[in-house]
This record gives sequence, structure tokens and C-alpha cells, in this order.
Amino acid sequence: MTDGHLLEVENLHATAGGGEVVRGVDLTVRSGEVHVIMGPNGSGKSTLAHALMGRPGTTVTEGSVRLDGVELVGLPAWRRARAGLFLALQQPIEVPGVLLDATMAEALAPLGAGPPDRGALSDRLRQEAAAIGFDERFLSRALNVDLSGGERKRNEVLQLGVLRPPFCVLDEIDSGLDVDAVRAVARRIESATGEWGLGVVAVTHFHRLLRELRADHVHVLVAGKVVASGGPELAEELEHTGYAAYASPT
Ligand SMILES: Nc1ncnc2c1ncn2[C@@H]1O[C@H](COP(=O)(O)OP(=O)(O)OP(=O)(O)O)[C@@H](O)[C@H]1O
Ligand SMILES: [Mg+2]
Repeated sequence: MTDGHLLEVENLHATAGGGEVVRGVDLTVRSGEVHVIMGPNGSGKSTLAHALMGRPGTTVTEGSVRLDGVELVGLPAWRRARAGLFLALQQPIEVPGVLLDATMAEALAPLGAGPPDRGALSDRLRQEAAAIGFDERFLSRALNVDLSGGERKRNEVLQLGVLRPPFCVLDEIDSGLDVDAVRAVARRIESATGEWGLGVVAVTHFHRLLRELRADHVHVLVAGKVVASGGPELAEELEHTGYAAYASPT
């Protein structure tokens, strides 16, 4: 296991569509840790994920995101990916004309000593596909084109397994997945925390994901701020109580 990586989010403020949506978030994630973010619809979870990755359309107005001491705010998404951050979108988009296997080869090249061995990459893609029940036929297709919602989610996890970044942000990776897929995907991510010390920030609405993915910390995001943090029991509690107890911070 590789450890010793550190992702530090400090007083992060971000706007989307002209309004401030993320309003001062602090988060420290170490290698192998799983941080879960829960919160009502529209509370800013996806915007937080986008701000961490530098998705165009989201602007950081204050605060910092450091990976092993390197400031990511201001860098384009591809530089953040190269620095070791991975984002699985809530709604993965179709990228016509861009092949999955070729994309993985290109993404891996700068991380190793040049282009990866084709046979080794092909084996790795197949292994990852098998682990989460992703149809091998999709491996040589254009990214997400004509895939179902659940297949796209599995595709994100497949890419995570192939790229093996130090940190990932998973935006509702469990939404749209059938029960068996949720279990397989959660197990794959959990094993990655041990295999290479993957640090995880996982946004979810359901504590079901956490049956297989062991959460170290659960944070509740309301109106762009973390209003409560706790252990996995907090996720369970929220399933029963909802967010009524958490008034919007001013
Ligand atoms: N590009 C945008 N233009 C206008 N408003 C936006 C934009 N992006 C986000 N917002 C607004 O910011 C708020 C937070 O949105 P966000 O997608 O971050 O919520 P969320 O917590 O991920 O919700 P959900 O649980 O439904 O996925 C919402 O009110 C949303 O309408
Ligand atoms: Mg969202």
C-alpha cells in the first residue's frame, strides 16, 4: 500500500451560475480514508465536487485545495488529474469519438515512463471490468456513448481502478446502480483504499453504499457549509431523521 498523501480543503468558497453555492468548506483527507458527504438536494455537494476538480462553470472565490502541498485552485482539470485527483461525475457525459481504452492509455502515459504496454493495459481493463460487472464490449467503444445510466457509473469506477489516483471524488456513484452493482462498486472502492491507499470523498444520499464501503467520516452539507461531522452512525441516523434537524446556516 502506498500511503502518505494528503488532500487539504480549506475555507473553500465557490460560485456556480452567479451565486455562491459552496460557502466555506474545510476537509482533510488522508490516504486510505473514506469521507462521505451527505446533504439535501441543492445543498452544493456537486458544486463542491466540481470546485475540487476545477470543472468549468464553477469558480472558486476563496480558499484552497492542496494535494501534497500543491495548490490546485487555478489549475485546469487535466493538471489536477495529473496531480492525482479523480472525479466521477453525478451524470457522466457521452464523449463521441473518444475511445475508452485509448483514453486510458493516454491518461496513464504521463504517470509512468511513457505509454503503457498494450497487453498489460488490456488485461487491466478486463480485470477492472470483471470486478464490477462492466461489459467488456464497452471497453473499445466511445466513452459512455449509448450506455445506460448504471453502465456509465460503472465506467467511472472502471477508470478509477485503471488510473489508480491517490484521491477520488465520487458524486453519487451509487445512484442509478442496481443492488448488485452498488455492492460490487462499493467493494471495489473499499479494496482500493487498501490496495494503493486511495483516499475517497464520496457524495451519496444512501447509507446502503456504506455497507461495503467503510466510512471513516460522514459530513453533512447544508446550504454550502458542513453543519455536522461524525462516524458512519451519522449516515444511518440521517436515513431515519432526514435533514430537518439541520437548519440552514446563515
Ligand atoms: N451552473 C449553475 N447555474 C445556476 N445554478 C446552479 C448551477 N450549478 C448549481 N447551481 C445551483 O446551486 C445549488 C447547488 O447545486 P448542486 O448541484 O451543487 O446541489 P447538490 O447538493 O449536488 O444536489 P443533488 O443532491 O440534487 O445532486 C442548486 O440550487 C443549483 O440550482
Ligand atoms: Mg449533486
